[in-house]
Amino acid sequence: MSEAWLETEALDVTYGRTHAVRGVSLTVGEGEIVAVLGANGAGKTSLLRALQGAVKPSGGTIRFMGRDLTNAGSAERVRSGMMLVPEGRQIFVSMTVHENLLMGGHLRRDQSAVEKDIKAVYERFPNLAERRDMKATVLSGGEQQMLAVGRALIGRPKLMMLDEPSLGLSPLFVEKLFSLIQELNGEGLSILLVEQNTHMALEIASRAYVLELGRVTLQGAAADLAADAALAEAYLGAEPA
Ligand SMILES: Nc1ncnc2c1ncn2[C@@H]1O[C@H](COP(=O)(O)OP(=O)(O)OP(=O)(O)O)[C@@H](O)[C@H]1O
Ligand SMILES: [Mg+2]
Repeated sequence: MSEAWLETEALDVTYGRTHAVRGVSLTVGEGEIVAVLGANGAGKTSLLRALQGAVKPSGGTIRFMGRDLTNAGSAERVRSGMMLVPEGRQIFVSMTVHENLLMGGHLRRDQSAVEKDIKAVYERFPNLAERRDMKATVLSGGEQQMLAVGRALIGRPKLMMLDEPSLGLSPLFVEKLFSLIQELNGEGLSILLVEQNTHMALEIASRAYVLELGRVTLQGAAADLAADAALAEAYLGAEPA
């Protein structure tokens, strides 16, 4: 197995009396796509927020590329190559498409390199290029998701974490999004993919973890989980056709 790039050990996240993440140990290897699956409230976003540095874990450790980042701030994590595409996209709707992309590079010093990377994002997403000077609010949900991914790419991540990127997208855009994730992975980006679209996530992931009430209750090769009867009953059966 490839070297673990990201490794959490016994990670805990608590909000007051709510224990959202309970002793989660997971790894993402270099070049891997790893899925985290789970129902509403399972703790998926809390896990990602702890990885991003937005909430301080109440226990456990986070290591990335051999460094202990448990107590590092968000900016340091971004600089070390961890980038989150947040739940609900969280693009700035009152800013233009271009301004949103510039935000992705705000921690980088070399602004001419940022412009070059933005150009590459426009080549990848022609819809964004056509709308570069329009307010992001005119974008469709799918285009907003592309913008959120594009903005993250401007930070030159080594590991991209995506929080339910397919939520609310049309089936056509969901297909496009999953091929995009595979394409980025093919270019060397490691991916931690949080999804409720279990079927599709397991199709592109090599491994997956299932979270229930903050705990990992199932983990393994994506193909094995896709064939798992208990998982099928709990999640796959509830999948929209
Ligand atoms: N800021 C917060 N303050 C208090 N409780 C919170 C906070 N954020 C989340 N929680 C609680 O933590 C638990 C896990 O929530 P979380 O958002 O991590 O789940 P999730 O798996 O991302 O769910 P969803 O699929 O709905 O996005 C829930 O019980 C939730 O109510
Ligand atoms: Mg969530």
